[in-house]
Amino acid sequence: MSEDYDRPLALAHTHATQYLREIENSPVYPRPDAIAALEAFDEPLPLHGSADQETLDLLHGKGSAATVASMGSRYFGFVVGGALPVTVGANWIATAWDQTPSSFISSPTCVKLEEIAGRWLRELLALPEHTGVGMTTGATMANFTALAAARHALLARAGWNVEEQGLYGAPEIKVIVSDEVHVTVEKALSMLGFGKKRVTRVPTDDNGAMRFDGVPGLDDMTLICTQAGNVNSGAIDPIGAIARKAAGAGAWVHVDGAFGLWGRLLARREADFQDVELADSVVVDAHKWLNTPYDCGIVMTRHAEALQGAMGTVAPYLKEEKKGEPKDMGPEFSRRARGVEVWAALRSLGHAGLKSMIGRCCDHAQVFADGLRAQGFEILNDVVLNQVVATIGTPEQIAEIRRLVEVSGECWFGSTFWKGWDAVRISVSSWRTTEEDVERSLAAIAEARRQVMGD
Ligand SMILES: Cc1ncc(COP(=O)(O)O)c(C=O)c1O
Repeated sequence: MSEDYDRPLALAHTHATQYLREIENSPVYPRPDAIAALEAFDEPLPLHGSADQETLDLLHGKGSAATVASMGSRYFGFVVGGALPVTVGANWIATAWDQTPSSFISSPTCVKLEEIAGRWLRELLALPEHTGVGMTTGATMANFTALAAARHALLARAGWNVEEQGLYGAPEIKVIVSDEVHVTVEKALSMLGFGKKRVTRVPTDDNGAMRFDGVPGLDDMTLICTQAGNVNSGAIDPIGAIARKAAGAGAWVHVDGAFGLWGRLLARREADFQDVELADSVVVDAHKWLNTPYDCGIVMTRHAEALQGAMGTVAPYLKEEKKGEPKDMGPEFSRRARGVEVWAALRSLGHAGLKSMIGRCCDHAQVFADGLRAQGFEILNDVVLNQVVATIGTPEQIAEIRRLVEVSGECWFGSTFWKGWDAVRISVSSWRTTEEDVERSLAAIAEARRQVMGD
């Protein structure tokens, strides 16, 4: 009965909105007692069911307190954005629809919205009009999908159909990465049979960007994986120069722009992103800096036919479907309708709103860097985007400062090892972070530093 949904959804609304209202007054990292209370979930598999209300009350009652407050404004861990209010609302409606956008026939609304989201993304990122767009769980799978398209295209040139014949006996593809390649690109390469070790590694500069003078000769059997946004420093590889060099040679240029590609919107970074549209494939996450809910990665390629060649599926029972349906643009057949939230985010922010959100996060990162430097930290990266890598004292002292900040509940960031230093890593990726949040977080760091360094 339709009323069956009324009470659970009303209760979910009450719990969820209470959670989001209280998040700014909750510790950013959950307290140990809240984590210990998760034991409440350790029940035996029930033989008989229970009331929906009881399940939702348990979920909120014990689950909410042990979440990490990445929806709040002082979470600076990994590269995790919040989710814009409109995207949470759109997500709820899309969940009520429970559609899979495999093809137009299975969900006209969701496929339409994904098409529009794809068109707007092409326009925002100034990519060619015929760019094919696919939606995946995240950048890991978007990288996988793009590299599968590259594998298809390069081997097809050599007369080899990799989807049918596999890789045994196939002509060799030379794969180039930088020594700062993200682990998930390596994972994608390994899943595709390229091997993590069978790659040429180009050295990087002090900020972690691929050195153009280290790029070896390219040819039409070369796949070069570049990066826009180093996960530590935010560094952007010289993509335009590499793409121009590759264009003459016929090599495939891929850009892992999981978060950094959004930087293309900023006038201050124009030079870094010049000619990115010449790249053969690019990847960006919506769940990072576009601030949509998890999960949503996006793959885009100038070679839509190569993407379909790698990902396309045909079967007699799919005969009503058109070429290039969403299921042919990514690895999954059934999946949630991610484009709904991308559409909602882009529609609510508009081009200008998105640009200002990205710019604001970068400004906050600069304030973090300046504030930390004033406290005696050494800033180990050029703050080109939203990332700050900082260190002070011994490895034990920096680790203790990070831990004390976590215990204070004021904000949260992770640790890293960068260019020989144990360091902390701050990423400003949420629409919600304000100047006051940065000042409050700097004060928490100053207090932790005082306790550890004693001055
Ligand atoms: C540069 C880069 N590539 C890929 C990824 C993987 O993204 P996801 O977690 O969405 O799969 C990340 C995640 O931080 C990243 O920073």
